[in-house]
Amino acid sequence: MNHGNRSTGPIQSPHLPLGDRRDAPFYGRDILEVAQFRRADLQHVFGVAREMREMVTRVGSFDLLKGKILANLFYEPSTRTASSFYAAMERLGGSVIPINEVRYSSVSKGESLPDTVRSLECYADVIVLRHPELGAAKEAARYARKPIINAGDGIGEHPTQALLDLFTIVEEAGRIDGLTVTMLGDLKNGRTVHSLARLLSMFDVKLRFVSPDSLRFPEKIRDELKEQRIAFSEHGDLEEVLSQTDVLYVTRVQKERFEDPQEYKRVQGAYVINNETLDRARPTMVLMHPLPRVGEISMEVDSDPRAAYFRQMEYGMYVRMALLAMVLGKA
Ligand code: CP
Repeated sequence: MNHGNRSTGPIQSPHLPLGDRRDAPFYGRDILEVAQFRRADLQHVFGVAREMREMVTRVGSFDLLKGKILANLFYEPSTRTASSFYAAMERLGGSVIPINEVRYSSVSKGESLPDTVRSLECYADVIVLRHPELGAAKEAARYARKPIINAGDGIGEHPTQALLDLFTIVEEAGRIDGLTVTMLGDLKNGRTVHSLARLLSMFDVKLRFVSPDSLRFPEKIRDELKEQRIAFSEHGDLEEVLSQTDVLYVTRVQKERFEDPQEYKRVQGAYVINNETLDRARPTMVLMHPLPRVGEISMEVDSDPRAAYFRQMEYGMYVRMALLAMVLGKA
């Protein structure tokens, strides 16, 4: 891909036109679930994300979205998603209305989700929404005129995380087709693995699911994978699949989704990745985690070159820059 002349002249990516691209993929559209994306869309997102990385490396921030405003509406805690969307918008020259703690907004007075998004869209051009209820992003999109980007809806989906996860796999492993991807941990409640498995099902991959029996992948998604003839298997012990794994995607047991604290205690700490685990893994394996982690990857692993989870976060900002530019017609 041509990234332009590095040495002279004004800095402007040749692939980022200054005018609105109303014919651009995803212009004015919501991003609610990964089923909206085809392989060609993914290539487009990743191409724009690489250009964003190039531009950030060269100039830090630039004015592609100058004059545009993002409302960051988070009903659940977030470090990475909230701050990477914030950073993405700032680096693109736009502005952000941050509502990272809804109890300080009129939600605490009982304002409904439809009214909240219809209020924010009076001030903003796009709304990023995280909500504890499955389907909340779709509900918001039914009422909003401006694009809604789902930043996680309960145990449903986290599509922008899946896009950045897939981008991480491409950048770290160099390909997707032919890989064996193992997902480990809370596969029942972890929305990131739900979205990622659906995205990966567009490729020629083998999926391995490792979890306690009570935290297996939801039947609905297993049925979807069967319909698409994706080779997958389920395991209780990581050792059964570790040596054949190209990408190990570790997840946190989602304490906040458990109604019974005793049940959480029974399964927390079921798996811990440490240096001994990596000794038995492939030298080229990519170790990922959406973060936050709460003990399932030991900190001693962080310095291993296979530990990609901090790079994964950075990839996320470039992907979110790409998505913002796309829905706002600038890429
Ligand atoms: N991966 C992720 O969604 O992290 P946050 O909960 O910190 O946004």
